[in-house]
Amino acid sequence: MTETPDRNLALELVRVTEVAAIAAARHQGRGDKEAVDQAAVDAMRQVLSTIDMDGVVVIGEGEKDEAPMLYNGEQVGNGSLPRVDVAVDPVDGTRLTARGMPGALAVIALAPQGTMYAPGSLVYMDKIAVGPVAAGKVDIDAPVAHNLDQVAKAYDKPISDVTAIILDRPRNEPFVRAIREAGARITLIGDGDIQGSIATAKEDSGVDILFGIGGSPEAVTSACAMAALGGEIQARLWPRDDSERRYAAEEGLDLEQVLTTRNLVDSDNTFFAATGVTPGELLDGVRFGSHSVRTNSLVLRSKTGTVRYMDAIHRVEQLRDLSAFEL
Ligand code: FBP
Repeated sequence: MTETPDRNLALELVRVTEVAAIAAARHQGRGDKEAVDQAAVDAMRQVLSTIDMDGVVVIGEGEKDEAPMLYNGEQVGNGSLPRVDVAVDPVDGTRLTARGMPGALAVIALAPQGTMYAPGSLVYMDKIAVGPVAAGKVDIDAPVAHNLDQVAKAYDKPISDVTAIILDRPRNEPFVRAIREAGARITLIGDGDIQGSIATAKEDSGVDILFGIGGSPEAVTSACAMAALGGEIQARLWPRDDSERRYAAEEGLDLEQVLTTRNLVDSDNTFFAATGVTPGELLDGVRFGSHSVRTNSLVLRSKTGTVRYMDAIHRVEQLRDLSAFEL
């Protein structure tokens, strides 16, 4: 085994997101967001430990003090080469799962060690993302109307047929107003902007561009997917207050810098796997049968650009016998 990942690790990683999705989906609609996350984290961590890699969590559940598992800096994998940075989002859409709403995913991404951007404890970034058709044609510093116009030209359709996806948050209201003024369409999502970014790169998704302020970890994780899909994400740290501005200064985090896909993950060998927890536009959710569970996953690697959709049927009793976590 060489120092750099030369096998498709994403094909192994999908086992991690499958079990995380199954464990989380058991809690669908029960109103307990923490239980959703805990179940996914426990499952993810156990399967991660079996993977041939020497990984360090760069994007995780937070600092060790508040996150006993999959915390930033935690070593994961069985310790053999290759050395990799790991981004985990055990469930992107814990609220969606707890409420029984569509669009939640279990997500993991890998890249060679030292290549992922670490946003520290700055939780938000302003983001813009487009698929391969409009990649290279948008600019996070340009007005919303200009970017919509660029997307319309790239797709050879009127602005009125361009659809922007955006997290439904008060802080994103100015974007919503600007999109409406420009005459484009909007898909508002309650949560899950990793799925939102990926949708811009999926031909038949009906979504052309993502705008708005969402999670920083999700921007880095999305960059690993966009690198494989030939799309583009641009982001900028978005401090909430003066104490976050001071923190950025102390940590040497540049609040002005436009972070390109390449700045967010500086590699042409990224790996990404996601499994649907609840049903969504991108992936089906977990479906429980009498003795089996069905999962639907997306597996990506940027070096080859291969996009794989994987449907799996799991035998629950056998999985349970092999697992130390609740399934
Ligand atoms: P989690 O389910 O992992 O908490 O994230 C959901 C999410 O909607 C992300 O997709 C998004 O980037 C972030 O939260 C936005 O943060 P907030 O909910 O604080 O506005």
